Amino acid sequence: MNIMVMGGGGREYAIGRMLSQESRVTALYFAPGNGATSALGENVVLNSYEALADFAQEQNIDLTIVGPEAPLVEGVVDIFKARGLRIFGPSKAAARLEGSKVYMKNFLAKYTIPTARYIETDQIERAFAFIETLPTPVVVKADGLCAGKGVIIAKSHDEAKQAVSQMLSGKSFGDAGKHVIIEEFLDGYELSMFAICDGSDYILLPAAQDHKRLLNNDEGPNTGGMGAYAPTPLVDDTVYEKVKERIIRPTLDGMQKEGAPFEGVLFIGLMIVNGEPITLEFNVRFGDPECEVLMPLMKSPVSELFYKAATKDLSNLHVEFKKQYAVGVVMASRDYPYKSTEPAEIIVDDIVHDDLAEHAHIAYAGVSEEDGTLYATGGRVLVCVGLGNSIKEARDRAYMLCGQVHFAGKKMRTDIAYQALQEA
Ligand code: AMP
Ligand code: GLY
Repeated sequence: MNIMVMGGGGREYAIGRMLSQESRVTALYFAPGNGATSALGENVVLNSYEALADFAQEQNIDLTIVGPEAPLVEGVVDIFKARGLRIFGPSKAAARLEGSKVYMKNFLAKYTIPTARYIETDQIERAFAFIETLPTPVVVKADGLCAGKGVIIAKSHDEAKQAVSQMLSGKSFGDAGKHVIIEEFLDGYELSMFAICDGSDYILLPAAQDHKRLLNNDEGPNTGGMGAYAPTPLVDDTVYEKVKERIIRPTLDGMQKEGAPFEGVLFIGLMIVNGEPITLEFNVRFGDPECEVLMPLMKSPVSELFYKAATKDLSNLHVEFKKQYAVGVVMASRDYPYKSTEPAEIIVDDIVHDDLAEHAHIAYAGVSEEDGTLYATGGRVLVCVGLGNSIKEARDRAYMLCGQVHFAGKKMRTDIAYQALQEA
């Protein structure tokens, strides 16, 4: 099977790493990939979706897997499908579940899927009036994609009103903020679940937990994610069943009714409040770094999972996961998430320890390659992933590997998976 992976972060590296280990994968391309994916397959740089579709045709690509949300929201799946090319990901219409928070919230309300109480509006008076009815903190969200920055948790009514004014006037996020969601704050713990969907059926992956804040103890600014682990013991079978029955099933049925069947990765951002799963958000792609810990837990071939999802054939597929845990620790560059840092050479010590060589690996993200040397060039540079029979074992291996990786300015959290270990 010839496969192309679209994107170039740690998430795409993690998918590609699994594919590169399968004998049935005959050719593997990354578009555009990063400085390390070129060791797993071939990087191709093309600057339009049409050019990528041409390439897929010329190279007899059997399956294209789309990593990031931007191409999905822009309709890359529709472009490929119109040309008869097989591609894994949601259509432009279905990608609105991530592309527009207003669409998502209205969809959830229409199909009575649990979510925080809210209004959506572009009217400042209506927004202010609703804010007054809510206890603090109040959550204010811009409608469109804002690179993860469009959500404000306002401590007071005044702060919420200020956030709304700045969004509606276009000051904070331009057009993406001219429609807002205002909603009640949910107090609980946050989880991510991922369902691989083919429009009507789905395979649910083990629940993961991400660590969005920059610093230990969930302090400091929000980031794309500083580490993740899976499966999380914070979820028991009852919660899984509730998520399936109350969220995933009605979402797949609802999207069919809307004429936009959901194919691809349904990323469910959940808040568990007193044991009840509430939908915070949907994304239409894998989380990063969640993907880096979920992929290595797959025992069944990932190519088959994505292929069957892209050909509406998941109903007969049985997927096995390793009975293990994975912990991923992000190593970021000095100035992340504030600004970019000058490139720094990455040196990885020879992994002589058998245990580490077998049960830990690096998923490369913000890296480039020059004359055989890797340089840290992105904010989140790489993820050290450890596997183990317990979260502690997996985490110890991940951190041991972090100790073998060197680049100027490297930084990381030292408490990844702390919530799970507190429970234990
Ligand atoms: P979102 O992009 O909607 O997931 O929001 C980003 C982050 O803001 C989430 O990961 C949560 O940590 C937080 N958040 C969003 N909505 C709420 C809410 N209603 N209550 C509490 N926290 C929230
Ligand atoms: N790790 C969260 C995300 O990918 O959005």
